[in-house]
Amino acid sequence: MPVQIIVGAQWGDEGKGKIVDMLAENVDIVARYQGGANAGHTVCIGPKEYILHLIPSGIFHPSITCVIGNGVVIDPAALMSEIDQLGTAGISIDNRLLISHNAHLIMPYHKLLDTIREQAPNRIGTTGRGIGPAYIDKFMRVGIRIVDLLDRDVLARKLRSNIEEKNRILTQVYGETKLDVDSLIAEYQEFDKRIDPYVTDTADYLNTAWKGGRSIIAEGAQGALLDVDHGTYPFVTSSSPTSGGACTGLGIPPTAVSSILGIVKAYSTRVGNGPFPTEQENEVGERLRKSGHEFGATTGRPRRCGWLDMVALRYSMTINGIEQIAITKLDVLDGFDEIRICTGYEANGKRLKTFPTDLQTLARVQPVYESYPGWKQELSGIRDYKDLPANAQRYLETIASLTGIPIRIVSVGPRRDQTILLS
Ligand code: IMP
Repeated sequence: MPVQIIVGAQWGDEGKGKIVDMLAENVDIVARYQGGANAGHTVCIGPKEYILHLIPSGIFHPSITCVIGNGVVIDPAALMSEIDQLGTAGISIDNRLLISHNAHLIMPYHKLLDTIREQAPNRIGTTGRGIGPAYIDKFMRVGIRIVDLLDRDVLARKLRSNIEEKNRILTQVYGETKLDVDSLIAEYQEFDKRIDPYVTDTADYLNTAWKGGRSIIAEGAQGALLDVDHGTYPFVTSSSPTSGGACTGLGIPPTAVSSILGIVKAYSTRVGNGPFPTEQENEVGERLRKSGHEFGATTGRPRRCGWLDMVALRYSMTINGIEQIAITKLDVLDGFDEIRICTGYEANGKRLKTFPTDLQTLARVQPVYESYPGWKQELSGIRDYKDLPANAQRYLETIASLTGIPIRIVSVGPRRDQTILLS
């Protein structure tokens, strides 16, 4: 099994961290392919909880090499603090972390511009981590890459030219004060010493690895419905979390990919703005938020919560080519009398056959629900599918039948062992 892509099938926060950590036990490499420190992947090992923003979720297995691919945008300050936190927790990354020399950097001016733009009335509700502005510079072809950190003169020249341009924007467009070019150059030149040991041509490394028979998990961040091309634009992130993004974000060919696993939360959540047809701004939403601890792992923002949306999920299955599903947080639905699944949308009295990705339509669709009886039992201690209450089994079977995709993993709690494997 050369490369298995693990992709969030909804609006992110599906619980990819736990599943990647669990599956990482049987692979050689975990490679992150897009996004930046906007992600917050939570992994629980025993009583301890770790939140990773940039480092792949395989890092807790000592034999695994973790790769940060070229498609990721790296805030060096955030990366260093994550490395330090892991070090303090006794998790060594020496010789186990590789960073693509082609990955772009997030600079303080990206975060500043992100924050300033979010003060506008049409705000996206970003994480404020500078993601959009960093990808803008990448595609504008003025971005600064990891490799530039390793050459002090190149870094100083590129930073100077970028900061001078950003200063004009900051002062003349937004009426802000200028950034100090020299202190920023000095600060960022310091990162070269710490980052140098990890930097390599990760595309070459990964291609050699899979051709040599090593197994790789390509770990996505965020979710398919936040994809810049296929998500609910403009309320999306600025990268490609969908499975297609794994190839460009790691420099591996599609022929290397052997399987695609979609992570689906047993209900829906969304952080930030944008349409969310099955959102429950009522007691149901409150209950899901409370039981599911639905607060952003990166920003602490309360997540918007709602019922599972099959129209969105079927779309996600299609654009990602998902072949297997992992259902997470099923235990959060414990105790509900009734659980709903959205099986269709209506707009102007007509049933829509597909998920509309244009905002105008999506914002006014009416979800059509089917209702299922809940279960009055705690699922967190169950390890075998046959021990699940009949109504929980029925809920899972409905998801599998409505998506047409088999469920292989069911998660009933945050710990590694709180997992049910299906054959
Ligand atoms: P950005 O990625 O910070 O630019 O934010 C753009 C949108 O993506 C906002 O709605 C964010 O809330 C959302 N977003 C970014 N990262 C995550 C994540 O890891 N989980 C869930 N939503 C995210």
